[in-house]
Amino acid sequence: MAEGYTGDVLIRWGDPVLTGAPDFAPMEQSAAAQSMQFGYNNDFIGYAPMPFGSNNPERALLCVNHEYTNEEVMFPGIGRQEKTGFSDMTAELVDIEMAAHGASVVLIEKTDGKWPPSGDRSLNRRITANTRMRLSGPAAGHDRLKTSSDPTGTRVLGTFNNCAGGMTPWGTYLMAEENFNGYFWGKLSDTHPEARNYKRYGLPSNWYAWGKFHDRFDIEKEPHEVNRFGWVVEVDPYDPAMAPVKRTAMGRFKHEGAHSIVNSDGRVVVYQGDDQCFDYLYKFVPEGRYNPDDRVANRDFLDTGVLYVARFDADGFLTWLPLVYGTGPLNAANGFASQADVLIETRRAADLLEATPMDRPEDVEPNPVTNTVYVMLTNNTRRKAGAENAANPRAKNAFGHIVELTPPGGDHGALRYRWDILVMCGDPEKPESGAHWGPETSVNGWFGSRDNCAIDGQGRLWVSTDQGVGWKKSGTADGIWALETQGSGRGSGRMFFRVPVGAEMCGPAFAPDDKTLFVAVQHVAVDGAKDYVPFGKDSTFEDPATRWPDFDKAMPPRPSVVAITKKDGGIIGG
Ligand code: FEO
Ligand code: CA
Ligand code: CA
Repeated sequence: MAEGYTGDVLIRWGDPVLTGAPDFAPMEQSAAAQSMQFGYNNDFIGYAPMPFGSNNPERALLCVNHEYTNEEVMFPGIGRQEKTGFSDMTAELVDIEMAAHGASVVLIEKTDGKWPPSGDRSLNRRITANTRMRLSGPAAGHDRLKTSSDPTGTRVLGTFNNCAGGMTPWGTYLMAEENFNGYFWGKLSDTHPEARNYKRYGLPSNWYAWGKFHDRFDIEKEPHEVNRFGWVVEVDPYDPAMAPVKRTAMGRFKHEGAHSIVNSDGRVVVYQGDDQCFDYLYKFVPEGRYNPDDRVANRDFLDTGVLYVARFDADGFLTWLPLVYGTGPLNAANGFASQADVLIETRRAADLLEATPMDRPEDVEPNPVTNTVYVMLTNNTRRKAGAENAANPRAKNAFGHIVELTPPGGDHGALRYRWDILVMCGDPEKPESGAHWGPETSVNGWFGSRDNCAIDGQGRLWVSTDQGVGWKKSGTADGIWALETQGSGRGSGRMFFRVPVGAEMCGPAFAPDDKTLFVAVQHVAVDGAKDYVPFGKDSTFEDPATRWPDFDKAMPPRPSVVAITKKDGGIIGG
């Protein structure tokens, strides 16, 4: 932690969220308990001020994604599972995992400088892999979204692998479905009508045992279920009775996040990355104009509009290409019979438009202070020499880079932007890394593999990293760094906070007064524990590399949200 700051654990995996939730008992876990408690692997954090319409910096509904689970440190006695058989996974353990995914909405209140969850849990909510939700937009109800349990193609159970997300100006919470492919298993014949679609998304991937106990996760038994995942899910945190909605107009891919900005003409433009090596950058421009005085009028805003994918050119400009059925190659000759087909197979449609293959787009965040947009490109060591392009100029890109987009006249509805590289990440002391940073970068101020970001009131970027098992390349754990975006220090980084061993840093979100920075510490003790001296092995429930945050022999490591404040009560980074 940077000097002068303090971090308090706000909520941990297993802490009660709903009224009546039991206390966390790691040796007596159940799906029923987990579905009322804080889920696993907190990722995106959204701050929904209370009440709605206020900018209250001291009371909010905290909206937190629970991206995925790590069975070997969650459950006693099973260790890391062989992904082909999952021999120790029982139906109950799978159901606990499903309940540990999704999201939590928790009322929090600043009290004596700290942020305890409120005793009032009436607005609190858990969303899991079994929560009833609705599909809307152009693909809803399409035959390719129909299953044996939902002949309407409009009703889905749950969401999972919700990575980052975004808050909308009308106070809803967008959850991005990222690596949905990992939850499906089974075999689909090469001649199946969905074979080409599924191959493009890496299906099936067999990361979890869910298909062993639930037929809908077996693509052979229920071949359309997977077309109901890979979307952006909209949740109204202020209305726990409202079912979440999957907005198909925003495309189907491995959504990293969905950060938005109100454009000068009142349109709300949402930026999205597809986090995979050589995949693309998108923006969604709704047709309607945002009405700040009528919350209900904005409710189905995200159902109608145009999805665009980016093509970066070497002249320093990028063009947004519309993914609209009937435009260019998006026609019957290429297997698209409607806009629904274009959206279900967004990636293949973008391939045909010759969008620019990127080095894994993670968070994409518009900066309301400068009106520019930052694209976190985490890394791509699979890019071979000769396959570079102007916006992804480094082969074997181990540390990634940040691209800055400048819409003309600050118009986020424009179809041609300028682009620039803000920083090339890597060790500035090693010229062979190709790194370039601003002049005021401190000794430990450089970083690699950024994932999420947040922007403070001064327009400064706060970047969190996810190096995975590759943390040894940088020699430092993941964390959060501040990065200047303007002036003579532009591109200069400073370390702010580092996570415990094996963890990843997610979800940075500021309170509206910039006096609290909320961060999510994910998969504690897991990534690269083998390389951690003297631990040197994979973590298990019984023997983890760290027992953060409780440091209690009776407790496993627990992914948790931390609230960071300045000891003098001032502005973070101020
Ligand atoms: Fe779930 Fe792209 O990080
Ligand atoms: Ca992420
Ligand atoms: Ca991540």
